[in-house]
Amino acid sequence: MAGFTFSEKQEKEIDRIVAKYPFKKSAMLPLLTLVQRDERVVSPEAMVAISERLDCSPAYVQSVMSFYTMYHTEKVGKYMILFCINISCQLNGCDKLLEYTAQKLDIKVGGTTADDKFTLHREECLADCTNAPMMRINDTFYGELTEQRIDQILDSLS
Ligand code: FES
Repeated sequence: MAGFTFSEKQEKEIDRIVAKYPFKKSAMLPLLTLVQRDERVVSPEAMVAISERLDCSPAYVQSVMSFYTMYHTEKVGKYMILFCINISCQLNGCDKLLEYTAQKLDIKVGGTTADDKFTLHREECLADCTNAPMMRINDTFYGELTEQRIDQILDSLS
């Protein structure tokens, strides 16, 4: 199994993150987030590298990571689309819009486009129910969705 090596930029960021906490293990989520953001996946090799930086076991890293839905063991697309499926969004037609988005991208929910550009997932409440139906793409939230708005948003992403 080939190892995972943090980039020079990641090393600097890790030093800065770890220095903020009294215990190294407290930096677990920021390090997982950094790797997920940069690599679009947290591989077993990256879990080992994180465990070595935080003086804990790879199993501990995996146990933390598996609790959260935003970390992935398989590579996701450049743009991760999370479609809220909770009650306010349900009442405002999210099911139809999710289906529309899947058809537009020619993938099933949970899948990634052939060009690795988009991954489409369901998500629990995005905490912006007043603007339902909602989706999140990477770190940006989009509300009051319609088919036309989804077209505009997806077409604007390069
Ligand atoms: S129910 Fe969709 S954002 Fe809360």
